[in-house]
Amino acid sequence: MKVLVVYNSVHHGNTEKIAKVIADELKAKMVKPTEGEVNRLSEYDLIGFGSGIYMSKHHESILQLVEKLPAVKDKKAFVFCTSGSSKNYNKPLKEKLTAKGFQVVGEFSCKGFDTYGPFKLIGGINKGRPNEEDCRKAQEFAHSFLK
Ligand SMILES: Cc1cc2nc3c(=O)[nH]c(=O)nc-3n(C[C@H](O)[C@H](O)[C@H](O)COP(=O)(O)O)c2cc1C
Repeated sequence: MKVLVVYNSVHHGNTEKIAKVIADELKAKMVKPTEGEVNRLSEYDLIGFGSGIYMSKHHESILQLVEKLPAVKDKKAFVFCTSGSSKNYNKPLKEKLTAKGFQVVGEFSCKGFDTYGPFKLIGGINKGRPNEEDCRKAQEFAHSFLK
């Protein structure tokens, strides 16, 4: 199974940590949404899309990429994110992917270190996240695609 992980991680590299765990487990290539590889999605059996959450949404670069993609058929995808709060923010991205014809077969989220806005004044929240436990869960999540 050929897997591509498309990610962006602009705040503290939190989502990059998770993307790497998932990519390692699936022997997947990791790319940013601006890289040429995203034009060759047809070569992949499963594609992951993930980023941090900014103003309740995945990074604009991920959302715009999905928006611009041609419609696909019988293509599997999963989504992931890290965020300051434990709210589930994956729904809009999942819906965008589904609208393009993707079959969304999984989602992962965990908390990430957050120093945005007022949180900066208190040294940030979720220090050390994603932590070892988060990474173990991300690995487990990725492993489920190998079964
Ligand atoms: C501009 C900005 C807006 C954010 N908005 C939210 C938000 O709406 N909800 C939330 O839970 N976290 C929010 N966060 C926290 C990030 O989602 C969190 O720190 C995430 O782990 C960052 O991932 P990254 O290091 O991969 O960029 C925001 C962070 C920034 C910098």
